[in-house]
Amino acid sequence: MRFLSLFRTAMASSFTVHRLHMRGRSRLEKCRNTFETIFRRSVGTEPEVAQTQGARGDHSGDKDGPKSLYNLMADRQEQAEKSVLISCPSRTSEKRFLKFLSNHGDIKKHFFYESYGVYAVVEFASRDNVVSLLESAAIPGVSHESVVPFKSRLLSLRNHSSVDSPTQQSGLPCQPQTTVPISELIQRLSREESVDDQINSLTEAYQLTEENSRLRFLVCSLLKDIAASYFPECTIRPFGSSVNGFGKLGCDLDMFLDLDSISGWNMKMPKSGLSLEYQMKRTNSERHVTQSILSVIGECVDHFGPGCVGVQKILNARCPLVRFAHQPSGFQCDLTANNRVAMKSTELLYLYGELDPRVRSLVFTIRCWARAHGVTSSIPGAWITNFALTVMVLFFLQKRTPPIIPKLDYLRDLAGPADESVIEGNDCTFVTDFSKIQLPSNTETLEQLLSDFFEFYAMFPFSRMSINIRKGKEQNKLEVTPLHIQNPFETSLNVSKNVNSSQLDRFVALCQESAWLLQQSENRTPRGVGGDNTPTPWGLATLLLPSQVAGIKGRKKRKREPASERIKSLLESLKNKNEGWKSQDS
Ligand code: GTP
Ligand code: MG
Repeated sequence: MRFLSLFRTAMASSFTVHRLHMRGRSRLEKCRNTFETIFRRSVGTEPEVAQTQGARGDHSGDKDGPKSLYNLMADRQEQAEKSVLISCPSRTSEKRFLKFLSNHGDIKKHFFYESYGVYAVVEFASRDNVVSLLESAAIPGVSHESVVPFKSRLLSLRNHSSVDSPTQQSGLPCQPQTTVPISELIQRLSREESVDDQINSLTEAYQLTEENSRLRFLVCSLLKDIAASYFPECTIRPFGSSVNGFGKLGCDLDMFLDLDSISGWNMKMPKSGLSLEYQMKRTNSERHVTQSILSVIGECVDHFGPGCVGVQKILNARCPLVRFAHQPSGFQCDLTANNRVAMKSTELLYLYGELDPRVRSLVFTIRCWARAHGVTSSIPGAWITNFALTVMVLFFLQKRTPPIIPKLDYLRDLAGPADESVIEGNDCTFVTDFSKIQLPSNTETLEQLLSDFFEFYAMFPFSRMSINIRKGKEQNKLEVTPLHIQNPFETSLNVSKNVNSSQLDRFVALCQESAWLLQQSENRTPRGVGGDNTPTPWGLATLLLPSQVAGIKGRKKRKREPASERIKSLLESLKNKNEGWKSQDS
């Protein structure tokens, strides 16, 4: 398969880095397995035996080259179209269930998960199998209620047998769809042997699974069936962290109603003779068209969408959207339309994540750290968003010597004619052929990068400078907002406009503290287990413990080893910051 070469590229570059830092063969194997899992999940492909080869960009064993995000998404969409979602009584026998469904065709893949009951995702070999299955399904019989007779691929399994045999009563093997609680994660990390292992372990525990990724595309496909009542040629595509490689289990599902196949379709008019064109309603603003479409689709989702609850139409936002919860999947959904710039940002983040496995690992770690300390939140507000934080990590990686990822302008320069993309006057062009991207070899460990990330932002001149991944260099800030991160494509916009100075100060204080914690000798190696057999937190695990900033003074008093001069000055500034912060709170 074509994605294999992408895998090889990732593996090859991870090996270049890790070969230098691993002590033995067993560590090498462990690392290889970790990256195999991480890679497989991030692109959401089936397991396949991987062979390492060549250096980055060597796709000789694979004539088609790596798959673009669009091709990967097309495969996922195809799978989703052939899938159904079935609510199952928890005591259903898996064998009996599969035998029953296979009356309609071959089952390519199935799995169970729990969300307000047990559900099964079943992918058939063809769409005809799904049609056959749907034809056999009945309308629910209700005595005191009425049903909206909208048929979808969300079904309920009914068991009419009065007695099940003991084997049929066994529970269904459910795939987890949520992350482990932070306390469990801290314990897991504390058992690892190195900070690099901790970072890889965190990435593995938090990233989207193959099943979760399938479920996201299936929800998009189910919604497409609703929207298709009006726009039969439409597509609903996921974007944001569901597909950019940085998604964490439980993240929201951002969707984009793509009508380009209809409105962007300009058939060449003949120069002579007769031709026809559609009569279409006209308005004077594209935003108004978007709002009208979302308003109507939002009503349909609200009134007819099985499993869709709490529908809110937020049409006056900068980017109009319909927000709702999809109960059977447990996803918080945001449906937008005409949001092609966000799709390009998604593609860009995906590309950066593919260039080097350290990118994803560091982004996951920083996102997890930020969430553990309330730097980010699921509630909108003056917090730094995950998107802004990801751009900050990318910027930091561009600033390494040599850089780990290139600046966006370089990716723009490498673009060919097929990559050209101008959306609403914004240049969104960048290269999509990974093999054209040449990077110098940087062999820094994840531990080094994590520690330096905190130092970098602990000392970043936020008051004067703006973060700019297009240039890969900080720029003079022209606005008086506390944090300025230039939007990569809509360059006049600041992606962190919402962040206030107290949130920025908090972020900086936490960076200072985390940099300091990672310098402490007792945090740099495993600390064994305590009396109750619980591993003592060390390394990354220490950074995820609560109330770090508040507790730092007490820690300081216990006279630790002398920190480097740089860290001493960080501590000094942290002390000053803490005092200021407290007086603000009181
Ligand atoms: P989580 O949902 O927090 O896991 O991350 P996310 O990356 O999905 O962020 P979010 O749901 O807030 O936004 C979805 C996508 O919209 C992002 O990945 C970006 O592509 C885009 N996006 C979000 N915020 C901004 C912004 O301020 N400016 C721009 N240009 N795009 C944004
Ligand atoms: Mg999102």
